[in-house]
Amino acid sequence: SKAAAGNGNPRDFIAKMKESKKRIVIFYGSQTGTAEEYAIRLAKEAKSKFGLASLVCDPEEYDFENLDQIPEDCCVFFVMATYGEGEPTDNAVQLCQNLSDESFEFSNGEHKLPGLKYVAFGLGNKTYEHYNLISRNVDRDLAKMGAIRIGERGEGDDDKSMEEDYLEWKDGMWEAFAQAMNVEEGQGGDSPDFAVTEVAEHPPEKVYLGELSARALTRTKGIHDAKNPYPAPITVARELFQMGADRNCVHIELSTEGSGITYQHGDHVGVWPSNAEVEVDRLLCALGLYDKRDTVINIESLDPALAKVPFPVPTTYGTVLRHYIDISALAGRQILGVLSKFAPNPEAETIMKDLNTNKDHYQATVAHGCMKLGEVLQYAAANDLFAKPTPETTTAWKIPFDIIVSSIPRLQPRYYSISSSPKLHPNSIHVTAVVLKYESEPVDRVQTRWVYGVGSNFLLNLKYATTHESAPLISDDAKLEPAFVEVPSYPTYAIEGPRGAYKQENILKAPIHVRRSTFRLPTNPKSPVIMIGPGTGVAPFRGFVQERVAMARRTIEKNGPEGLADWGPIRLYFGCRRSDQDFLYKDEWDSYAKELQGKFIMRNAFSREPPYKPDGGKVYVQDLIWEDQEHIADAIINGKGYIYICGDAKGMSKSVEEALCKILGEAKGGSAEVEGVAELKLLKERNRLLLDVWS
Ligand code: 2AM
Repeated sequence: SKAAAGNGNPRDFIAKMKESKKRIVIFYGSQTGTAEEYAIRLAKEAKSKFGLASLVCDPEEYDFENLDQIPEDCCVFFVMATYGEGEPTDNAVQLCQNLSDESFEFSNGEHKLPGLKYVAFGLGNKTYEHYNLISRNVDRDLAKMGAIRIGERGEGDDDKSMEEDYLEWKDGMWEAFAQAMNVEEGQGGDSPDFAVTEVAEHPPEKVYLGELSARALTRTKGIHDAKNPYPAPITVARELFQMGADRNCVHIELSTEGSGITYQHGDHVGVWPSNAEVEVDRLLCALGLYDKRDTVINIESLDPALAKVPFPVPTTYGTVLRHYIDISALAGRQILGVLSKFAPNPEAETIMKDLNTNKDHYQATVAHGCMKLGEVLQYAAANDLFAKPTPETTTAWKIPFDIIVSSIPRLQPRYYSISSSPKLHPNSIHVTAVVLKYESEPVDRVQTRWVYGVGSNFLLNLKYATTHESAPLISDDAKLEPAFVEVPSYPTYAIEGPRGAYKQENILKAPIHVRRSTFRLPTNPKSPVIMIGPGTGVAPFRGFVQERVAMARRTIEKNGPEGLADWGPIRLYFGCRRSDQDFLYKDEWDSYAKELQGKFIMRNAFSREPPYKPDGGKVYVQDLIWEDQEHIADAIINGKGYIYICGDAKGMSKSVEEALCKILGEAKGGSAEVEGVAELKLLKERNRLLLDVWS
């Protein structure tokens, strides 16, 4: 359908490969950037091992009709993430369609891609049903067309072991690669990806201090999307949990007025956080850049096809660490090997090398302690991890900044299910986020540490800043103390940057964009609806119920109260610990029910208060579903109803699906394992069972 290969066609990757004499092209199917990172890492390894340069491509930007014209001494890498319920990532939809398209095979049965050499690595998540489906499909389709895979197909599990899966897979693949491509190791060598230069004089208004796009810097109008997030003013921020809860749950309303941003119930909002100040300081100290945090730097890519500068420049050292790269993630095993060369003393070098090569040591310290890179550098240099990092107490490493830029991934937005309906709130997006804080496993079997989620703690900080004195936080330890002492306390974030990244004209803002989803109510209100969302899994369903409330108001206005008579019931299964602690939006549900005239039924499972089960066990949403089996079977089978599940992918959604199998199997006069499973599969295929789950 698209233009064929030709000179100067920017969508022709083969022409580009030839032009730049590249023998490898790497396509990545990436939603949040992880697959892209692995694609870039593979490109770098090909270069350092074999001296082979790669073209790293977003498949959205290229055509695939000429895949069969790849020269014989070249090969194609596919680094493909499987997203949601077995779908390709947005940027790989076309590629996957092309590959599975019948027309890709010749009618005489001849292979379309005979001998095409390819490498396949998939990124998936074992808690979801269709583990690595996309890379498996790509692999299958290519093989069908006569292409020949190099080495094994790699599969990474994002739930547990992505990094280890990758490391375990890649060495064997590279061996097979050397043979297939007839190249030898040792021809490459490490060459930097970026050149970082300090700029003495630069117009301050042209320096990026946290802005995520050129338009944000110049404040020019334009469409707001993932490439140009909108700084949305926070109009409401409050705590949802009540006194006595040992956690926080933040409700934030973001104004989209005048931004051009629209959304639907069930969509997700991406919030762009920054890193906590203590982590910025820690890494600045460990890199010996503490006093240079405001020094303006420029960064240039030395091979733009391999690695683009991942954030806008010129900027400052401090800004890069605070806003642009993910210094809060678990430090990977591979980077520790790379950085061992820059150790400040032989002891630190030995520790880094050991962490890199000794999987058990790495597990027992870095992985168990959820240690960030800055912390590993401190640990290896025997600095006190639990003290506030200062230049005096932190050993400085001589790590070139270009290595930091090329080995630490970009800071990504965090996605939340929107908890409002645009029909009730056309100009605001509501977010419901439980603040993530947990104790790590003991490091070296000795000491546990507190781990804080970046996105939700960033929101907690914004909430705190908007409500400051007037509304104290619920739990005592949620006060924003200087972070990282031995008792639990929350990290602080810089809200007021030099140009006010989050505070402009005294209004607090959070950079956001909307991601569309297919998690939507049936358009016909006659269809019965069953929604299951314990904890913050209730977020999208608040939007669903509001959607129906808005619709009911219009209907009643037009047809009077009888207008709702033939509406199907919508049932919400909610669960939390206690009715007096973490019952989200406790005060709202009754009024929704009133407006919906009994068409909205809410069922609550309070797991940590009576009544308990006869055996003393906790009552969960799946138990209520089982109790209501007749209603549910009737709604689904006779009423052609819809089921929605949102929340924890591991325990909850699995158990809920089991309960549903039992109910539907029995209703069909069969068993859960056969008829129940078949019925559930059918519902999924017909988009009458929809999941928005996370792990
Ligand atoms: P618990 O923490 O008391 O075990 C929201 O987090 C609610 O979901 C809580 O009441 C929590 O109960 C409950 N929950 C925990 N694990 C669950 C599971 N596997 N299935 C259903 N609900 C669960």
